[in-house]
Amino acid sequence: RAEPLILGIETSCDETGIGIVRGRTLLSNTIASSMDEHARYGGVVPEVAARAHLEALTPSIEAALSEAGVGLDELDAIAVTSGPGLAGALMVGIGAAKALAVSLGTPLYAVNHLVGHIAADILDGDAPRLEYPTVALLVSGGHTSLLLVRDLTGDVELLGETMDDAAGEAFDKVARLLGLPYPGGPEIDRAAAEGDPTAIAFPRGLSRASDLAKHRYDFSFSGLKTAVARWTEQRSALGEDIPVADVAASFREAVVDVLVTKALAACADHGVPRLLLGGGVIANRRLRDVAKQRADAAGVTLRIPPLSLCTDNGAMIAALAAELVMAGREPSTLAFGADSTLPV
Ligand code: KG4
Ligand code: ZN
Repeated sequence: RAEPLILGIETSCDETGIGIVRGRTLLSNTIASSMDEHARYGGVVPEVAARAHLEALTPSIEAALSEAGVGLDELDAIAVTSGPGLAGALMVGIGAAKALAVSLGTPLYAVNHLVGHIAADILDGDAPRLEYPTVALLVSGGHTSLLLVRDLTGDVELLGETMDDAAGEAFDKVARLLGLPYPGGPEIDRAAAEGDPTAIAFPRGLSRASDLAKHRYDFSFSGLKTAVARWTEQRSALGEDIPVADVAASFREAVVDVLVTKALAACADHGVPRLLLGGGVIANRRLRDVAKQRADAAGVTLRIPPLSLCTDNGAMIAALAAELVMAGREPSTLAFGADSTLPV
């Protein structure tokens, strides 16, 4: 079938995402978030997220179908994220996907969340088609990964990832340290606008020559977080005010610098003049600007899908399954489970 109609389910973290695509065309993308419920804990609480998915799933599926103007009986396949992510959260989506596939008698595709983020690019109607190979940098509250994509339907190589905190998680933790609310990314971004990014020289994780030998494409943000904590504690101990804007700007610069430097190093090393960005941290203005400037200077074409497709969503999961169907790949058997560390 040339243009398969697919419903995708994404529940790997705190977003209940239901998306419907026909081939490479986006029909609907419904997102319900339990972010507010996690705010007072300063981070996503797995069981709270799982319970929220259970409540949001059925109404979200109904909303996505009605927005797309299609019925369940028209679907050619169901797609669901099987990992990586929070196990309990994943299980809710997988259970729903299996129930739908069995009751409708449709094929079921279990897909990888990270590869799904890359597939989001296909749905960006304004951009030319995703070209191979491409380097992809995925940065969110749950992951920071650098991938070499030769073919979405079967040849994606993980070049590197974070050894500790995800980039978004680092934003959230530093925001908390500075007394800013959760989620911290947008708050730091806002505070940083008034600050001097060169005010404080915070460390760039895994960037020394000795680190690069083993961790050329890996990231580490926990040392940076500790450096910010130590810097602010020392200031407080001296009875001085914390220059929040300067700390935020200097911290943001350290994160952005290391993300863009490593992503462009991967492009240069592999002779790949294309870089795709994805994940919720892409909302960061400074990251987009620095990536654009340095990519231009390096002769690398930068692609950034619209933010609604960069943050976790079901449409990207449906889009990946559509590619698998169009490439003639077999569906999954019903025996798969949730794999919180599923490799690409
Ligand atoms: O992809 P996403 O919506 O959800 C998951 O992580 O699953 O990403 C959310 C993360 C949070 O850590 C949030 O603080 C961060 O993205 N974020 C930002 C910005 N907006 C959201 N980080 C930096 N700058 C921003 N403007
Ligand atoms: Zn994600």
